[in-house]
Amino acid sequence: MSNTTSPDVAGLAPDHLRPRYHFMPPANWMNDPNGLIHWQGMYHLFYQYNPQGAFWGTIHWGHATSRDLVHWEHEPIALHPGPGSYDSDGCWSGCAVDDHGTPTLLYTGKEGAHESLVLARGDAHLRTWEKQAQNPVIAGPPPEIDSVGFRDPCVWREDGEWRMVIGSGIRGVGGAALLYTSPDLVQWDYRHPLAVGDGATGVMWECPSFFALGDRHVLTLSVLPQEAVFAFVGTYADDRFTPASMRRLDGGAAFYAPQTFIDAHGRRILFAWLKEERDAAAQRDAGWSGVMSLPRVLTLDAEGMLGMSPPPEFLQLRGFTQTLLLDLWPSKRVTIPTNRQGQWEVEVTLPASMSGQVSLSLVDETTTFAEIVIDLDARRAGLQEHDATVAAWLSIQRDGDNPLKVRCFFDHSVIECFIAGHVCVTKRVYPPTLAGVRLTLTQTSATPTQVGIRQWDLRAAEFHLA
Ligand code: FRU
Repeated sequence: MSNTTSPDVAGLAPDHLRPRYHFMPPANWMNDPNGLIHWQGMYHLFYQYNPQGAFWGTIHWGHATSRDLVHWEHEPIALHPGPGSYDSDGCWSGCAVDDHGTPTLLYTGKEGAHESLVLARGDAHLRTWEKQAQNPVIAGPPPEIDSVGFRDPCVWREDGEWRMVIGSGIRGVGGAALLYTSPDLVQWDYRHPLAVGDGATGVMWECPSFFALGDRHVLTLSVLPQEAVFAFVGTYADDRFTPASMRRLDGGAAFYAPQTFIDAHGRRILFAWLKEERDAAAQRDAGWSGVMSLPRVLTLDAEGMLGMSPPPEFLQLRGFTQTLLLDLWPSKRVTIPTNRQGQWEVEVTLPASMSGQVSLSLVDETTTFAEIVIDLDARRAGLQEHDATVAAWLSIQRDGDNPLKVRCFFDHSVIECFIAGHVCVTKRVYPPTLAGVRLTLTQTSATPTQVGIRQWDLRAAEFHLA
């Protein structure tokens, strides 16, 4: 196919670090997912994009479409900053809604330090967007709040009106998600904060996503200055959200700014930006920066625990497979046979009787690129740093006597692991070549244990230029 962007996009040198089945633009800088919507059978993914190079700045909205969340068509740029206008310094993050048949974007206009709410209406293909004459539809934060930011709207329909939370922070208090209502997406009334942090969850909440899941509500937040992502699960009644639990959504620092949407199958799906974890010069030299996470289908169990798993659509990429049982002797490192070509999925099944710590390491002859530690006794998992500490332990709930499954996806410079269906750990890695890269397993318990391994080679997803 002539218009397929080959894994090594025209003009860029062959690049063994460029992911092949995680979404990314053909070149240049990408950050947050924006405007996620399933529109007439087509998934639309917009994203923060700098067409000028692989560095953050002059933020536009890039756009891509897919029928299956796996293969993508790159569409023309959807939003450009308007010189001398409310978005002259960038079209920052926002969302998409279906306004009685009209595709509609609400996003953050950036002009100098000022942030406002901007409305754009789209054509039937969601390709061209008209910024509306009434813009900005909200000029700035509510005057009664001493706010540290006002951005990243999340809009939904409820009881015959529009509702929105917008990311903010109250000076001296903590992060805040501000609740607004509107009859028409143009006229907005500020109600009150839907939720306010106490400072422990940061001073500014970016990219709120608020939605019903099962019989509860979930609020996901990207918080500054920690640059971590939290999810609150709780109840929403009388315009107030009461969180009952809080957790980190991913144990890795690369994962940020997730947004969610509901598709025509009723699935709540999340995409997040996987930041680079190499320096700015290396990003510019590569000509690209930023990758989307795999889409993650969110579920909630009866206890209110949030589950995450890649959608079954990704099974189509599976090729050659191997199934084996490995004997794990205490403190002896074993290698899981993978194809060494940069694209694979591994599922490790740890028997329910296993104890101690298990670690999964992505290594080559000389270097450990990532080490994911699962502490079966303390029921927690995290990413181990070079000094053997784990910055953020995420708790794992064991499912009775069932074995614990760990599913890891490797895609050139991404390793994304799903542990027990609800704990995720993601890291960016930059091995100098792929030839020697492999996944190894060790355990600390005193008894040898047999673990089940399934491994698949994964094909590249297709990325076409529209
Ligand atoms: C999160 C964020 C958003 C903002 C956008 C700008 O990564 O800082 O708060 O709208 O990126 O690119």
